[in-house]
Amino acid sequence: MTITASTHDLAWRERRAAQQPDWPDSERLAGVVGELATLPPLVFAGECDQLTERIAAVTRGEAFILQGGDCAETFAGATAAGVRAKLQTLLQMAVVLTYGASVPVVKIGRMAGQFAKPRSQPVEVQDGITLPCYRGDAVNGLEFTAEARTPDPGRLLRAYHCSAVTLNLCRAFTTGGYADLHQVHTWNQDFVADSPAGRRYERLAGDIDRALAFMRACGADPAELRTVELYSSHEALLLDYEDALTRGRYDTSAHFLWIGERTRALDGAHIAFARSIANPVGVKIGPSTTPDELLELTAALNPARQPGRLTLITRLGAARVREVLPSLVSAVAADGTPVAWVCDPMHGNTFEAPSGYKTRNFDEVLDELHGFFDVHRDLGTHPGGIHIEFTGDNVTECVGGSYEIAAADLHQRYETACDPRLNRSQALDLAFTVAESYRKS
Ligand code: PEP
Ligand code: CO
Repeated sequence: MTITASTHDLAWRERRAAQQPDWPDSERLAGVVGELATLPPLVFAGECDQLTERIAAVTRGEAFILQGGDCAETFAGATAAGVRAKLQTLLQMAVVLTYGASVPVVKIGRMAGQFAKPRSQPVEVQDGITLPCYRGDAVNGLEFTAEARTPDPGRLLRAYHCSAVTLNLCRAFTTGGYADLHQVHTWNQDFVADSPAGRRYERLAGDIDRALAFMRACGADPAELRTVELYSSHEALLLDYEDALTRGRYDTSAHFLWIGERTRALDGAHIAFARSIANPVGVKIGPSTTPDELLELTAALNPARQPGRLTLITRLGAARVREVLPSLVSAVAADGTPVAWVCDPMHGNTFEAPSGYKTRNFDEVLDELHGFFDVHRDLGTHPGGIHIEFTGDNVTECVGGSYEIAAADLHQRYETACDPRLNRSQALDLAFTVAESYRKS
């Protein structure tokens, strides 16, 4: 039996939990879970409630969510340089959106806990050898050896500690002067500064500088410009881990938790777990979702119809978004449950390049975003935000963008542990496009 400090509803344990690792040593797992339950919370209840309020503003059409980061964080990536590059990217995108679309941006990192992945196949075969698939650094190692691929419960503890390190860096960077809007130029560094998106950003940063100078000349120097409110999020996949970090009614592993497309079965353990916690939660919505199914999910996850509690993250694919999204949005609007509609233009647009690399086409990513904005404009509903996979580095994982990465370039810097991410200039390009679409919506 595992001992945890949970006092929330434990009904999820009676349900089937999809996508859980086959831990080889259940005693060791119980020991780790017991230890996690004694460790300090990573986030606090009051912060989670504040995020719920921020998302409530999104449901009213008064703010916009920017959620993003790696598909899968790695333990090796929890370095000051790695976290800073991702934060710089997020801050640059947020500035482009805030200034370009004149809307408050709720910033949520896909960071400080995104260490577990659902997989479509339980095993991977290479050269006739079959091994368990990689399920994220919280479970096993990416290297294709039997040793690395064997799930190790000790990795849950490392996931906790890497989350703490990352969160500490984020808190220091965002409140210690680095995220001060007066630093808007210094976030535009290295390779991105030389890209077309970086040059466009530099002009925008110049405009912001002049606006700040004007405000200072008028005697206004508000404290809001000196720090940034940043929240953490990840997929709530490994329920033993999430449960062990739940204190009272809050899952303190992150501010915002989402349930993935593969684990959102209405009668499954993940939805039962998400119901039991008081954090703001999200659920990923794929193209096979029916309006009735969606209404059952919204009723299960937001029975009190609390604004800000529930975010619907649609990932329908560029080819299907215009066909599938209208009936989903109309059904929820008619039902009256307040939700934030967020577009994930990544996960419905993944394909395999001839060279074998899993990739995404930047134009298709933009096309799904345009479809999302078009549908919401037609229905008179609010396009509430975007959810993207990016990194701060100059990787070559998605094709297209202003540097025009071709399929034949993918091998140059293909570093993701899971899905292909936008690099920093692609992420900035995307932010400019989204700001324009939002302005017109
Ligand atoms: C993800 O966000 O990395 C993911 C697996 O998404 P989805 O559940 O939408 O497939
Ligand atoms: Co992904």
